[in-house]
Amino acid sequence: MHSFDGKSVIITGASGGIGSATARLFAENGADVVVNYYSSSTKADEVVDAIQQLGRQALCLKADVSNPTDVSTMTKEVIDQFGRIDVLVNNAAAHPPPLFQFKNPDWDLWIRMVRVNIMGILVCSHYVAPYLKETHGNIVNVVMDYHLGGIGYALTKTAGTPITRGLARELAPIRVNAVSPGPIDTWGMTKEEKAVFIKQALIKRTGHPTDVANAILFLASSKASYITGETLHVDGGNFDHK
Ligand SMILES: NC(=O)c1ccc[n+]([C@@H]2O[C@H](COP(=O)([O-])OP(=O)(O)OC[C@H]3O[C@@H](n4cnc5c(N)ncnc54)[C@H](OP(=O)(O)O)[C@@H]3O)[C@@H](O)[C@H]2O)c1
Repeated sequence: MHSFDGKSVIITGASGGIGSATARLFAENGADVVVNYYSSSTKADEVVDAIQQLGRQALCLKADVSNPTDVSTMTKEVIDQFGRIDVLVNNAAAHPPPLFQFKNPDWDLWIRMVRVNIMGILVCSHYVAPYLKETHGNIVNVVMDYHLGGIGYALTKTAGTPITRGLARELAPIRVNAVSPGPIDTWGMTKEEKAVFIKQALIKRTGHPTDVANAILFLASSKASYITGETLHVDGGNFDHK
């Protein structure tokens, strides 16, 4: 008997580092999983294979989380296939290339960050919330509660914390929580970056996608049934970022 047996979970951006680890962990804990992706179909297929090998159902759905038509279609498809939605993990994000700077703006990228990182949470929550109400389900957002990666990324990701609190009020009794990962090596950190992050943290290593996935699973579980509007930092005590 697993804690998510018979439950259906949507993970946005499940083709990425943290999203794919989260999708696998939910499947290990009994859930059928919707693997949402936008451009990385091969990676999404690998996640689907891993979930199916665990004996769970996986539904691979391409959708731009910031596009209401895409998200409405995705939600209907999930209901057609799984009949219910218990958890929505708003994990997808658009982020800048490493050298992206304020002085050298790419306006299209800035707009994409606003759309995906802010609108994406709102659009997905809007379409999925009626089904979460039926199942007493909940939402977990993956945010960034500190400034890193240039102001376009930092601004749109730190908005996730007040959005989480606002949605918790708006959608209660649906619980809405967030995790704020510290630097997790999903992009191939340089040795120098790694050394800086390890120096800043109290726990002397960089984080793994599974560290974040475990926190998401906890917040989505019945063990967190009295927690809402909260942001849990999963950063090894990396207070320098806050
Ligand atoms: N890694 C860190 O250090 C860190 C720290 C703090 C917060 N976070 C947050 O953690 C989450 C996961 O990050 P990650 O490090 O795992 O990044 P990642 O590997 O780059 O994954 C990002 C995911 O977002 C998806 N995505 C982008 N635009 C999308 C769109 N319009 N619609 C649907 N999906 C879209 C990507 O899908 P495709 O590739 O299929 O397009 C990909 O699956 C993000 O919210 C990020 O801001 C990460």
